Amino acid sequence: MAPLKWWQRAVFYQIYPRSFADANGDGIGDFPGMTAKLDYLRDLGVDALWLSPHYPSPFLDCGYDIADYCDVAPEYGTLWDFSRFLQKAHERGLRVILDLVLNHTSDQHAWFREARSSRASPWRDWYVWRDPAPDGGPPNNWASIFGGPAWTLDQATGQYYYHVFLPEQPDLNWRNPEVKAALWDAVRFWLDLGVDGFRLDAIATIFEHPDLPDHTLPVSPGAVLDANTLPWDDYWQLLRFQLHQPGMHELMKELRALVESYPGDRVLVGEDEDLAFHGSGDDELHLVFNFPLQRTRRITPAHVRANQALRLGALPPGAWPCNTLGNHDAPRVWSRYGDGAHDAALARLHLALLLTLKGTPFLYYGEELGMADLELSDLGQLRDTNAINRYRALTERRGVAPEAALREVLATTRDRCRGPMQWSEAPNAGFTAPEAVPWLPLHPNHRAGVSVAAQADDPGSLLSFYRRLLALRRATPALLAGEFEVLHPDSEDHLAFLRHDRDSGQTCLVVLNFSGAAQRPAFDLGGRAARLRFSSAERPAGRLDLQPLSLAPFEAVILDLL
Ligand code: GLC
Repeated sequence: MAPLKWWQRAVFYQIYPRSFADANGDGIGDFPGMTAKLDYLRDLGVDALWLSPHYPSPFLDCGYDIADYCDVAPEYGTLWDFSRFLQKAHERGLRVILDLVLNHTSDQHAWFREARSSRASPWRDWYVWRDPAPDGGPPNNWASIFGGPAWTLDQATGQYYYHVFLPEQPDLNWRNPEVKAALWDAVRFWLDLGVDGFRLDAIATIFEHPDLPDHTLPVSPGAVLDANTLPWDDYWQLLRFQLHQPGMHELMKELRALVESYPGDRVLVGEDEDLAFHGSGDDELHLVFNFPLQRTRRITPAHVRANQALRLGALPPGAWPCNTLGNHDAPRVWSRYGDGAHDAALARLHLALLLTLKGTPFLYYGEELGMADLELSDLGQLRDTNAINRYRALTERRGVAPEAALREVLATTRDRCRGPMQWSEAPNAGFTAPEAVPWLPLHPNHRAGVSVAAQADDPGSLLSFYRRLLALRRATPALLAGEFEVLHPDSEDHLAFLRHDRDSGQTCLVVLNFSGAAQRPAFDLGGRAARLRFSSAERPAGRLDLQPLSLAPFEAVILDLL
């Protein structure tokens, strides 16, 4: 097998720039803050950083509404601060990929301001405009993923513009070659500065069906388009003319060629789970996320086996898997998969899963400390416009009582997983100056052990566990490159699999006990003996009996087959 590329061996760590580290005391994270934490990230043992958008933005969608593709948000610093961050990251062997939002801009972007200024504007066709329907309403019944219709009327010019997300995030018209040229220029701008690649936001939304046909589901648009409440299939049915439309794959091939014209194996990671984005395996995106792995209330051995069978089985030759359990759009791993009684053990088990499956793992900042979802208590604390709009829709359009709407929105807002990083037990957790007001509140558990300072020197902490397992993964060829082979396909309590690397000849047996009870599975591996490589429990080093293997509750073990 060809030697693995850096992005196949790497563990990625997602940073939400607004929440990572604030150096100037304005309550908002920034590049000088991130730069000061690079040693922490190197010592943690991750290899690459993905930054959520760092561009100038009105921040109605937390930076996913970009107002200038070739600059840095002033509250995060300057281009010089960015370049210094990149240089210092590279000096530490850390790669950096940026978030690239191709589908839409902010309505404050100069292109859209120009486009909406008049029907005759040379920028008009950079966005998707349509005349009203004969009754004056929107051109069709499409819905926005963030609720409400996907069309907003521009009063001044009398036409509707299309937005699959917020009205303040107008969709670019990718059928206009000028749009493509401008975005490819932005891509070159950052590649020239030396970034190692991009995570491509909402990549399936780029093209819409050119004929704009109505969807035929019997729902009023916007009223029920909600991934939280609609069955998954209905949700995608509603969006079927707005997602995954023809043209996308050609575009991805073009972007891939652009990125490959640069030296250094720059990488493209798509925010989508569709393996078709790998193209023939090696001509579109390098990685796409295995979102179905995380889309479950509880991760069970059966869920993982089914997921892996489907994903690995369908991966085109030459393509590489990519697994993640959390990001800025989903509840935190600690809160989502914890059961309230064994949260710490489950957090360890889930990391062990992520780092031992085949493929590139993506971690989310703060996960290594056991950061939990924020518990917000009032509307004024919300920063995600999507959540604020949802509250309005529930109370104003759906007649839900304000208290019930508030409860629902506070329990689901994406703000919950975006809280400031917890560096210490100091006021404001060392994220920002003690007297500053952080842009989102701190979780009070930063004073109860959930901080870098409290965990860094404690060998029993979750942070130490992350460091140990990350170091072990890096030093274990079978975990980086090995084929994945399920054992005990019917077990409900434990997940067992082999990772076999032909080049080094190393085979690891991974056994993860997902139950709160001790287990004693027996392994008949042709008489091969096994030596302990890693355990989440206390275990003496050395050979281990596989007939049976005694597992503590929630224990994760990694064994070398001899
Ligand atoms: C992606 C981002 C999400 C954002 C949306 C619109 O799904 O992950 O945070 O709101 O795109 O840009």
